[in-house]
Amino acid sequence: MLQVEALRAGYEGADVLHGVSLSVEPSTVAAVIGANGAGKSTLLRAMSGLIRRSGGSVSVDGERLQFRSEREVVRAGIAHVPEGRQVFANLTVRENLQLGAYALKSRRELASRLEDMLGLFPDLRTRLRHYAGSLSGGQQQMLAIARGLMGLPRYLLLDEPSLGLAPLVVEVIFRVIVELRQRDVGILLVEQNGWQALTNADRAYLLEQGRITLSGTGKELLENPAVVERYLGVGSSIGDTERGRGIGEQLRRALAI
Ligand SMILES: Nc1ncnc2c1ncn2[C@@H]1O[C@H](COP(=O)(O)OP(=O)(O)OP(=O)(O)O)[C@@H](O)[C@H]1O
Ligand SMILES: [Mg+2]
Repeated sequence: MLQVEALRAGYEGADVLHGVSLSVEPSTVAAVIGANGAGKSTLLRAMSGLIRRSGGSVSVDGERLQFRSEREVVRAGIAHVPEGRQVFANLTVRENLQLGAYALKSRRELASRLEDMLGLFPDLRTRLRHYAGSLSGGQQQMLAIARGLMGLPRYLLLDEPSLGLAPLVVEVIFRVIVELRQRDVGILLVEQNGWQALTNADRAYLLEQGRITLSGTGKELLENPAVVERYLGVGSSIGDTERGRGIGEQLRRALAI
């Protein structure tokens, strides 16, 4: 299990996270929803050692990460796919994927991981020789996730993977999330698309101003009137898509609020 306890972290002396605790079990999806600036990306950065923690701990199967190197995090089985589809634009798709596999030893292993990724994201197959920068936004997001998966992580931290993408691409990404869960991967999903994240989440957390203010099953949060009102409904920052709005309204009517 991936466990975060009383985590504090931030930037230049000021904490953004004020003691966040959550856990992700293998074969489950945990979702963190929260408004812009709540600290969702900061949480994932602190969990993968990209920023310094000022307190608390992150552990995998009871073993505390010391964050002495990026490799330690990878070795612990954690892959972080940051927000904003970060791919190496001037490298090809194949090269991007190879970079995600630097810990793999053999050529054969690399080839089999690559084949696995092309099975998950068939769109990438015909584009292996293309520069990543020439891909569509959706394909870049697929590539960013595939690169994270190349090292066979046990836990995948996904920062707003569906943001700004067309509904069809969002469906592909959520299908992959469900597939990964079946393969025993634990997924921590930070999402603007609150409805879709909660629908797919076994466990869900609401992050507000650096604190977890609510947790439960995905369904419990979906049925929570305050969550619907603030995060899934009209004018909310998270449900601010046609689909999100529609669902928010349906839910509101269904719950008579
Ligand atoms: N590199 C940085 N340096 C200083 N402050 C930062 C930095 N990145 C984020 N912050 C601040 O930390 C707080 C939390 O930001 P964070 O990006 O974690 O929020 P978020 O929940 O991911 O928001 P969004 O939904 O917009 O992605 C904000 O007040 C933000 O201004
Ligand atoms: Mg963010």
